Amino acid sequence: MRLAFAAALGSPLLLAGCGGAQSWLSPLGPNAAETLDLFRLTLWVSAVVVLLVGGTLLHALFARRRWRGSDRYRLLLMAGGGVVLPAVVLPVFLVQSLRIDWPFAEERPAELTIDVVAWQFWWEIRYPSPDGGAPIVSANELRIPAGVPVRFRLTTADVIHSFWIPKLAGKVDMVPGRVNYALVQADAPDTFRGACFEFCGLQHAHMAFDVIAMPPKEFADWLRREAQPAQPPATEEAREGARLFIESGCGSCHAVRGLPGAEGEVAPDLTHVGSRRTIGAGMLPNRLGALAGWIAATQQVKPGANMPSFNQLSGPELHTLSAYLEGLR
Ligand code: CUA
Repeated sequence: MRLAFAAALGSPLLLAGCGGAQSWLSPLGPNAAETLDLFRLTLWVSAVVVLLVGGTLLHALFARRRWRGSDRYRLLLMAGGGVVLPAVVLPVFLVQSLRIDWPFAEERPAELTIDVVAWQFWWEIRYPSPDGGAPIVSANELRIPAGVPVRFRLTTADVIHSFWIPKLAGKVDMVPGRVNYALVQADAPDTFRGACFEFCGLQHAHMAFDVIAMPPKEFADWLRREAQPAQPPATEEAREGARLFIESGCGSCHAVRGLPGAEGEVAPDLTHVGSRRTIGAGMLPNRLGALAGWIAATQQVKPGANMPSFNQLSGPELHTLSAYLEGLR
């Protein structure tokens, strides 16, 4: 009785947790909608099966003994529950799941293919260059054209991660030595939240990214801008910030295209870091103070990340360095 009461009281609270930015129950793209359709089908078919089995159990308990013990009854149960039911239900699930597009992302048509490489604990993103040159490297923020299917080629630089944008498509694992694909489409321009869905280490829960779906024309313009190298530092402060960036060794892990000495390939590309919404893979809003705090106390903000805390830098140095990064738009 108490259990039933607790369940009745608790279920609305539990269901309230089904909403929000990471809810796949309110899809905003056809691939996620397919997943929800499959879930609904599974739910209703399973409900019917539960009713059938429950009914049979009740019948077995309360039907007249003569009928219950008969061979015809046993045959009916075995043929019905063991042959007919699975023979109908399983093919329905199979056919329905084969109709879903996103697990077959490698073959299905897509407007463009974007590479995503997972790292502990951030995302490297490589867009195809519009003029066929080297890929345009970015990090931790994904931009896609809205209304068209986009294919993702998913790999990992270290351990197993999983790529998931709940409102847009199902999750796909990123496995060492393998290339997996995901198909993603946003119905309309919007901002979505993506996350890692495979426990990958200390900061697994802080491995998120924003997905920004833009009108296709705006996306094309943005990609052209993103392909440009960083603006040379124009002010005295920016020049000092760039000097600190190189002097402190940031450039051996991070790249800033166009800045000599900043060609690192094992940490997020910072060429246009100032234009991103967050830093640290969704950890902090991208503001000057947050940047300074992040650089000075990376291991306090995100323990286990591969970047050390640069707490040897003075306050004014942190300010100068952050101002330079913020200006990389
Ligand atoms: Cu990457 Cu969990």
